[in-house]
Amino acid sequence: MDKAAFISTRKAINSALICCADNDYSGISEIWQDHLAKRTNGYRYETVAKLLSEDNDSTAGVAIKIPDHLRTFYRRFYEEYYREQDFPSQPDIGCPGSLEVNGRRADVAYLQNFSRTLDIIPLIERLGRRVHVLEIGAGYGGMAQQITASGFVESYTIVDLPDNLLLSSYYLRSNFPELRGNTCQDFSFRKALNFLIPQQIDEIAGQKFDVVINCDSFGEMPAAVAQAYVTFVASSLSDDGFAYLKNAHRHTPATVQKVSDFGYERFDLETLKPTLFPSLIFDHHHHVVVLRKKSGNQAFDPTHLDVYGEIIRSGIHGEVVALGQRIATETMSDDDRRFLDVVDRTYRGELHDWRPTDPDLAATLDYLQGIELVNRGQRTELLERYLRASKSAAAEAITLFVLSRQGGRLRFTQSFRNGFRTEFLLRTMKLDPTRTFQGALLWHLRKPMVEAVSRPYRGLRKSALVHLKNIVLNLREGRGPRVSRVA
Ligand SMILES: C[S@@+](CC[C@H](N)C(=O)[O-])C[C@H]1O[C@@H](n2cnc3c(N)ncnc32)[C@H](O)[C@@H]1O
Repeated sequence: MDKAAFISTRKAINSALICCADNDYSGISEIWQDHLAKRTNGYRYETVAKLLSEDNDSTAGVAIKIPDHLRTFYRRFYEEYYREQDFPSQPDIGCPGSLEVNGRRADVAYLQNFSRTLDIIPLIERLGRRVHVLEIGAGYGGMAQQITASGFVESYTIVDLPDNLLLSSYYLRSNFPELRGNTCQDFSFRKALNFLIPQQIDEIAGQKFDVVINCDSFGEMPAAVAQAYVTFVASSLSDDGFAYLKNAHRHTPATVQKVSDFGYERFDLETLKPTLFPSLIFDHHHHVVVLRKKSGNQAFDPTHLDVYGEIIRSGIHGEVVALGQRIATETMSDDDRRFLDVVDRTYRGELHDWRPTDPDLAATLDYLQGIELVNRGQRTELLERYLRASKSAAAEAITLFVLSRQGGRLRFTQSFRNGFRTEFLLRTMKLDPTRTFQGALLWHLRKPMVEAVSRPYRGLRKSALVHLKNIVLNLREGRGPRVSRVA
């Protein structure tokens, strides 16, 4: 996209903002006000043309940039993740840096998006035709680029906040000059890319979409906005279309608090699974759903969704992939139901001796009950037993971190059951957990998050040390001392 086209695109977005009234979809969460405030580079053509370069902050919140000292760890992480997987090189639009994973040019945002593209493309292929895609909250358009490059796309429509819509308009229209690019006006659905702000959503209300995508986004919106979008998606899916949503719950008190509150009951649930891609030890670990038009034949219990979502958020992934599928296909055993009930009680503070026959579910219970006993100040063998069976890098890393504070010693030379992924999560903590003083300080800062693993319903209690750290970081970033931070 040349400078003249960029300037007229920016004008079109500004005009739409002036003309179109706010609506149920246009609310901006505190999380997003915070990301936008961090963007100091502005949105001039020369800046946006380098949106992916390492020192550019105009993608804050939509494209992770990593410090140099972590590059080797990120490369190893992705080389292990994509071991046998081939992927196309990242286009050089936006001047991305590269980790050179498997000899290919690719930055972290590209590699993160590719894990979801790998899920989505086979579902599109099954439709056997060129598709109309709607993506809500597409960031700079990284996944849209990968899906459009697959050759299956007839039209790709993005609804996003104005700042990010400018980025995705630039990025995608530059990548696909052969498609008609419509930013905030003249939307069309033949070989076209459409970009609209939430205030314009009525303009696409009659269109049916075969694929709807929302990743890391509904979970970051005010709850009522996310729910309005989910209702919109339910009315916009084509008869054999699907929605692929990847989100976390309880980011802040103003976002969706439990999985069943997203409104998935408006659909049939085809897939429910964890994302196998934790990128931080104490993340808001995400769940993935694939949703189809509601048939009326499915009647899943919202409590099962909620407890399943909490288990994922506690750091458990690999052990519950099969359980998620049994929930979605309504083929749960009595053991599964009892397991979910016992986990729910554990979260409410009641511990039981019962063990499920499924070894993965038994390991999950060892982990959750082990952490709860530690939270009560008791010693337990359960966590050591969990370590021998762990299939989740996040839960393994949390367990090792907890045990290192109970007299154990954490070393990066030891072997980890979930391989480098576990080491990566420990190495990317802000301080080094293997060092005595840093480990102790980390423990005081992260103790509320360890507590939340087994007590998710009680809310995160921030310690005085966490408040102090937040004030120091706010002041260092030139913001008022009282700006609230998520952790
Ligand atoms: C964390 S980013 C995720 C971007 C991209 N989907 C990804 O996975 O990299 C969240 C996205 O949600 C968008 N978003 C936040 N509030 C929104 C709203 N009210 N309407 C539409 N999009 C919104 C943001 O602008 C951003 O593009």
